[in-house]
Amino acid sequence: MAMGRILRQFLPSLSTAFVLLFPLAFSASDSEALLKLKKSLNNAGALDSWVPGSAPCNGPKWSWRGLVCQGGVVTGLSLDGMRLSGTIDVDALAQIPGLLTFSVENNSFTNTIPGFNRLGALKVLSLSRNRFSGEIPSDYFVKMASLKKVRLSYNKFTGKIPDSLAHLSNLVGLHLQYNQFSGRIPSFDTPNLNSLNVSNNRLEGEIPSSLSKFSASSFIGNPGLCGGRIGVKCYSTPNKTSTKIIAGMVTLGVIILLLVIIFFAIRWRKKKQTVSYVTPSGSSKDAVEVLQPKTEGSIKSADPDSNVSSPGKASVAELVMLNDKKGVFGLPDLMKGSAEVLGNGPLGASYYVRLANGVEVVAKSIKQMNALGRDSFDAEVKKLGKLQHPNVLTPLAYHYRKEEKLFVYEYLPKGSLLYYLHGDGGKYGCELDLRTRVKIVRGIAEGLDYLHNQFASRDVPHGNLKLSNVLLGPDNRPLLSDYGYHPFLNVDSLDRLFAYKAPEAIQKQTVSFRTDVYCLGIIILEMITTEHPSQYVNDGNGGTDIVQWVASAFSEGKQTELLDTKIKGCRNSVRCMEKLLRVGALCTKTCPQQRLDIEEAIRLIDEIILELKQFDII
Ligand SMILES: *[C@@H]1O[C@H](CO)[C@@H](O)[C@H](O)[C@H]1NC(C)=O
Ligand SMILES: *[C@@H]1O[C@H](CO)[C@@H](O)[C@H](O)[C@H]1NC(C)=O
Repeated sequence: MAMGRILRQFLPSLSTAFVLLFPLAFSASDSEALLKLKKSLNNAGALDSWVPGSAPCNGPKWSWRGLVCQGGVVTGLSLDGMRLSGTIDVDALAQIPGLLTFSVENNSFTNTIPGFNRLGALKVLSLSRNRFSGEIPSDYFVKMASLKKVRLSYNKFTGKIPDSLAHLSNLVGLHLQYNQFSGRIPSFDTPNLNSLNVSNNRLEGEIPSSLSKFSASSFIGNPGLCGGRIGVKCYSTPNKTSTKIIAGMVTLGVIILLLVIIFFAIRWRKKKQTVSYVTPSGSSKDAVEVLQPKTEGSIKSADPDSNVSSPGKASVAELVMLNDKKGVFGLPDLMKGSAEVLGNGPLGASYYVRLANGVEVVAKSIKQMNALGRDSFDAEVKKLGKLQHPNVLTPLAYHYRKEEKLFVYEYLPKGSLLYYLHGDGGKYGCELDLRTRVKIVRGIAEGLDYLHNQFASRDVPHGNLKLSNVLLGPDNRPLLSDYGYHPFLNVDSLDRLFAYKAPEAIQKQTVSFRTDVYCLGIIILEMITTEHPSQYVNDGNGGTDIVQWVASAFSEGKQTELLDTKIKGCRNSVRCMEKLLRVGALCTKTCPQQRLDIEEAIRLIDEIILELKQFDII
């Protein structure tokens, strides 16, 4: 079949016998195609053996690295673990007529899946362990009927598992684990499929019966799945429309119930005239007001004599749930919980609240957020509520009043990275070693990259990235919070965002994606020097101008003197520390165009992680 294709495409007048006798004729065109492919790859040092004028498939071990040859013809590319990136030139691949297998596992490729579906003869497609992202069109695999093995695991693919994949009649192995595939698993009609892994995605619904022979370990890490052999029963859902109606009715019921509770709670309070909410000492009075809607206005609005059903008035006391990760609660629950002030930032105060059911949350009160009307505000906040990424803390709920907004987040007991690094850092010693710090930096960069993809049309997707807005979850997993506020803030309050400490914001009042990168850079410099940067101090006095300091140290070749001596004493590679410092310096260049972009920053951090792995430090 492959030979037939070769003949049709390249040598329509020659016979098969002739082709087999003169394989080198093909290497010539293969080598051109391969060199074209190499041109499209960044960081192609591993492909140094690919040079013009030599024959790719010569010799017993084939002279060009990463090739599989048969009869002098290139039949496979196996470019795993070569640290490659760039945009793979599929046109070049299409010019290698004998190509049956293509593998680029464990590299640094990004963006959506390239058009490999033009390579109709491929039997193996392996893209695992890269950073490919986005949805794969449902019909992507329609013309790839020869495919036997498809490996897309450990990427960032989203959307549904493409339907066409489920109808590849030759499919033997399918590995999709560790992506962000969502929705239902399509029904497979692949009689030969004997290795399947879709674990650790966001799949939901019933496992189709055609896949019920696979064990639970093929499906783990998808909390929404049921059926098959995973031991989770499916509850029959009548059909989609009635599910929606039921969901709608439940929501309506919850809203009515909340209104009733609020109504009675307020009446009760009015009668008793007592304050059940523990006012935290030193708290800002206005913020507490939000938590305590016992003001004249709200009492009136809920008074039976006035028109309770008026939506404008009812909304005074409303807490809008964005997701139910921590259960559903209302403003009355927040009011009744026990509270403590966590701190006062440039945007407002934060409170820790423990609800009666034990759930712990943080409520942040923010003023000066009237740049958008109510409807646009709601729409934008709902977008924040939909975010899902291991390094992004999604808000749980919000409350809207003209004068003040309240954002409710999950409470993380370890607190912020600021506290961890500067507050108690000394206490942790080697627990906060280079390995941990690099991983934290990597997670922050991943979260930022995700926000940049999700909010690609915004001026500055995060806008407020600093150590105190990075929280630490279990295993020191960093979670970004307090992001995405830029569109909401009144123009005269924008400079409360940390992004406005970047040079371009100070000089020209402009911010961009690269402003977020600047903020990331400050964090990196801070993580590796443990200095407290002056950029954090509001009046500009105190702290070290860390950017200037690092830049001049590099120019004098004294950068190793800046490294935090505490981590120097732990299991370590000073070379890697220095490399990370350089990444920080490249992110904080004064001119935004000279800064790294976030993808490049991630790639460089990954290289450091690889190097640490080689030293067995990670
Ligand atoms: C990925 O490739 C690197 C070399 O670039 C190698 O050291 C590492 O072991 C590979 N990882 C896996 C999981 O194969
Ligand atoms: C699927 O992948 C997960 C995560 O890598 C692993 O734990 C599990 O054993 C795999 N199962 C199968 C059947 O390959």
